[in-house]
Amino acid sequence: MSQITTQLDDSGVVDPNQPTDPARRTWVGVACAFGGVAGAATAVPFVSSFAPSERARAAGAPVEVDITTLQPGEMTTVEWRGKPVWILRRTEAQLAALPKLDPQLADPNSDRPGFTPAYAKNEYRSRNPEYFVAVGICTHLGCSPTPQLAAGGGAGLPAGWQGGFFCPCHGSSFDLAGRVYANVPAPDNLEVPPYEFSADGTRITVGVDENNRA
Ligand code: FES
Repeated sequence: MSQITTQLDDSGVVDPNQPTDPARRTWVGVACAFGGVAGAATAVPFVSSFAPSERARAAGAPVEVDITTLQPGEMTTVEWRGKPVWILRRTEAQLAALPKLDPQLADPNSDRPGFTPAYAKNEYRSRNPEYFVAVGICTHLGCSPTPQLAAGGGAGLPAGWQGGFFCPCHGSSFDLAGRVYANVPAPDNLEVPPYEFSADGTRITVGVDENNRA
């Protein structure tokens, strides 16, 4: 398995006033998503993992990810069923900020059906608050949002930005639990895929859970 670690600066934010590129409206492949991420601005290391073989991806095989080297504030991306899946290890400060955002969100408790497994219908949308796992595809028209993990905000981001994800195609914002902000084009929270932890907590397997077995 190859890994790429990129240190990104924190000076830029995607400008939502730029003309919309129709080519970005549809998720066309992982390269698009990773390319968007590479050009984004975050203050944290970003780790991309290209784990399974092409054959395994095509078959929709579960993807096992070693999370022992993922540090607080770091995010890794793996490909599962042709889609980018993010695994973010949130810091204590990031976790503490999440409940305060509820009034700004469209579906803070993940009540809408179809995007959140039962085990992720909690304040952090995860099995373990520290680790957030989500499909990195916008619920509007399928672009891949850009991680904007640092608090502080920028052009196009909601007031009081505590870190999250910004979709450059039409300006939708999501918090660090993938919860969509109110009054943006995206109608729903980011999808949480089936996943589970290994018994010793060192690995996450994307694509399986108690309801989905390979
Ligand atoms: S695809 Fe339209 S806001 Fe994300």
